[in-house]
Amino acid sequence: MTKHFLSLEEHSVEGLTAILDRAAELKAIRGDESFQPLKGQTWGLIFSKSSTRTRVSFEVGIRELGGRAMFLSSREMQLGRGEPIKDTARVLGRMIHGAVIRTFSHQEIVDFAEYSDIPTINALTDHAHPCQIMADLLTMREKLGSIEDRVVTFIGDGACNVATSWVYAAIKFGFQLRIASPEGFQPKPSLIDQAGDNVSVTTDVAAAATGADVLYTDVWVSMGMEEEAEERLRQFQGFQINSEIVSKAKESVLVLHCLPAYRGKEITEDVLEAHQQTIFDQAENRLHAQKGVICCLLGV
Ligand code: CP
Ligand code: NVA
Repeated sequence: MTKHFLSLEEHSVEGLTAILDRAAELKAIRGDESFQPLKGQTWGLIFSKSSTRTRVSFEVGIRELGGRAMFLSSREMQLGRGEPIKDTARVLGRMIHGAVIRTFSHQEIVDFAEYSDIPTINALTDHAHPCQIMADLLTMREKLGSIEDRVVTFIGDGACNVATSWVYAAIKFGFQLRIASPEGFQPKPSLIDQAGDNVSVTTDVAAAATGADVLYTDVWVSMGMEEEAEERLRQFQGFQINSEIVSKAKESVLVLHCLPAYRGKEITEDVLEAHQQTIFDQAENRLHAQKGVICCLLGV
């Protein structure tokens, strides 16, 4: 396993499965304070965008593994005044033991990993959100018992970070991913070509939902896209998980949402509340999945 977790595409299915296995083990022994692999370590969380789940799950997870977590808002760092990422990385690489980074440009975390030479984890970039998808896969495995033979339907912004990470997950695990998005908000053709038969793209939400094991959505307006909000709200009308769409899927369908949710936009209030148990189990799994990521990167 490489020592970084920047995108699912860089990991093998065996490596990703080992993370899910480790996450399940750590979930089962939560509260056992004898396992402290990060004892004596300080990990930095460098965030340029807002976060509730990712920040808290990493801070708690690092502490539960015996380490210390230091939250650094990029706005308050010299990074926010133009210090290059490679210099920031060289400095922090001499002081902290691991980094968890949420930012805009994916290249920034690639550069940080290279120049810091410490384990670096992607906590969301404009390109990918791999930690989210590890929690989602853990949730699927817990509730459906398997991943490989399932049909996952993603409804909404098919070009966003979460959808892109789902495409890589489908390539790695071999399940069927259907993406229902308006034209102009679909995954890049090169990515679709790479995915081959595992991924299909449509504008027909009802057809994509028919017979699905999982219905998944994310916000219509991702962080950093606020200027496009008005146009997006217009374009995404109808690309919503509502009771009519849920009725097309399997009776046992898992409705998942990475959160935060905007009720009445990408998901209706009634569907979110009817499936809240699953959706908040999914949110909790961020903690367990990320502890699995850290332990597998460190080989513990
Ligand atoms: N799903 C997710 O990453 O949530 P936050 O933006 O709250 O971290
Ligand atoms: N696509 C969303 C995910 C939020 C967790 C965003 O980037 O804002």
